[in-house]
Amino acid sequence: MQTNYPVDSIIDRWNADPDFVIEMFQDIQDKFRFIPQEALNRVAERTGKPRGVLFHIATFYKAFSLEEKGRQEIQICMGTACYVKGAPNILAAFERELKIKSGETTADRMFTLSEVRCVGACGLAPVVVVGDDVIGGVTPSMATEIVKKYSKEG
Ligand code: FES
Repeated sequence: MQTNYPVDSIIDRWNADPDFVIEMFQDIQDKFRFIPQEALNRVAERTGKPRGVLFHIATFYKAFSLEEKGRQEIQICMGTACYVKGAPNILAAFERELKIKSGETTADRMFTLSEVRCVGACGLAPVVVVGDDVIGGVTPSMATEIVKKYSKEG
């Protein structure tokens, strides 16, 4: 068993089996909140899976990120129901509040702001998802309050 790298224990958990690289990535993502380049390289080295294939997997699945995300992810639903009920204004309000653009992470790594397609809660539109919480009936003026609430929980 090799323990030189922080991800080795995760790779060991899956016996360095190339058929389980997605599971390894899930564990790595959970641990670091993203897939560091060194982790991807180490999975390639130990499983024998080509780096190009691993890179494709890491970029293909939305659950994985190659960039470090904030402790909390604020996702603005831009699906049709939310869009027509003002989602673009809500996104703009969060961009102003967090002083970042969609897809970016705050400098203190507290929040990542992103857009998602329909999250299946159209009846609550417009919807914002923070972590596991689905918040319905959001208005732009609620951005400050939501950011404040989750800053404390982070
Ligand atoms: S469009 Fe936003 S939840 Fe369906």
